[in-house]
Amino acid sequence: MKAYKGHIIFTKERSRFEIIENGYVLVEKGKVEGVYSELPKEAAQAEVIDYGDRLIIPAMNDMHVHAPQYRNQGIAMDLELLPWLDNYTFPEESKYSDIGYAKRMYSRFVRDLWRQGTMRTVAFATVHYESTKLLMELFKQSKMGAMVGKVDMNRNSPDSLTETVEDAIKYNEALIQEYNKEDSLVRPIITPRFVPSCTPELLKACGELARKYNLPVQSHLSENRGEIAWVKELEPDSANYGDAYNRYGLFGQTKTIMAHCVWTAGEELELMRRNSVMVAHCPTSNFNLSSGMAPIRTFIDNDISVGLGSDISGGHELSIFKMMVYAIQTSKMHYSADKSKPFLSLSEAFWIATKSAGSFFGKVGSFEKGYDFDALVIDDHELNHDNYPLINRLERFIYIGDDRHILDRYCNGEKVEEPVVY
Ligand code: GUN
Ligand code: FE
Repeated sequence: MKAYKGHIIFTKERSRFEIIENGYVLVEKGKVEGVYSELPKEAAQAEVIDYGDRLIIPAMNDMHVHAPQYRNQGIAMDLELLPWLDNYTFPEESKYSDIGYAKRMYSRFVRDLWRQGTMRTVAFATVHYESTKLLMELFKQSKMGAMVGKVDMNRNSPDSLTETVEDAIKYNEALIQEYNKEDSLVRPIITPRFVPSCTPELLKACGELARKYNLPVQSHLSENRGEIAWVKELEPDSANYGDAYNRYGLFGQTKTIMAHCVWTAGEELELMRRNSVMVAHCPTSNFNLSSGMAPIRTFIDNDISVGLGSDISGGHELSIFKMMVYAIQTSKMHYSADKSKPFLSLSEAFWIATKSAGSFFGKVGSFEKGYDFDALVIDDHELNHDNYPLINRLERFIYIGDDRHILDRYCNGEKVEEPVVY
């Protein structure tokens, strides 16, 4: 049994922080036993890891990111989604047929997630089997959690990223055989890129794989108006974009997360609610690609779960702390136009990034009893030059802190060391 001592902050409910000054998180076999101001008698034998005046908070979850777009982070910001994919993204992803290139880039990507305190990631790889397997191995070595998708695509894509439906099934099944283990932190996720990249046959095959192996699904939904118009042409029988996934068993039939949902409303919103589809909100990407501002308050009001995603390289920012700031700012822009939609509070943004997002992995993102101990130790003394109250210390770290203020990282009860870069 271990007891981590420090200022404990987390969000059990979205409306407020739980704060225990000079408290303890008690951890047994990787799971949280409870949080305490004084250690209970039963824990007298626990090893105390004393972090003194530091903050101990749940670790971050990145619910949508493209690992093979790592080299393009912070460049190529001058186009909207569809020409951006053709001109910058597909050429870069094509390079991942080269396993040596993949190792150099993917190992840096995994190291950078670690730096930013992201201990669980829902990632797109590429269409390539070998380099996707390599990404899964790198996550495994890192001891951080990840759902990794071999991307499936077979239309409107360059030849270098186009596969047959048979190959998509074969290579997905190979990864599923190897990685779909109950107790593993790194698991496969079925990943049709988006409707314009997948023929109906491929979408159907993806839905069947998800059902056959009871696997989660990720894709993109209603991100950009040009994209949505194109989906209407490609899938004229679908009531809306979400329905185009739903008819193939890719919309909540198994656990599903959809990135963006900027323009989701009406029947599509209702279908998401009914099918318990989670939203990965990616505000920096939505700004950079001129996509729009996702209606997060509307999702929350409709009991649709939301998490935050960096969406590198549509997004330029890997830190989920900064994503909280962008999510709050986006909600303030909605509020400025419609005062009936309150903007996100800090505790709501924190809850979205931790407990709400973490529910996609199981019991992750809180310090309540039974949760996996995923935690960050924040050393903010440099930012705390005038004895700020604890809540302001957290707020300052979120707004103006960075990876230099993250002292230690834990995933599933284990301390996570800096991953190797090749
Ligand atoms: N839609 C389909 N592929 C992509 C991608 O790589 N990034 C983003 N932002 N949207 C997509
Ligand atoms: Fe994306």
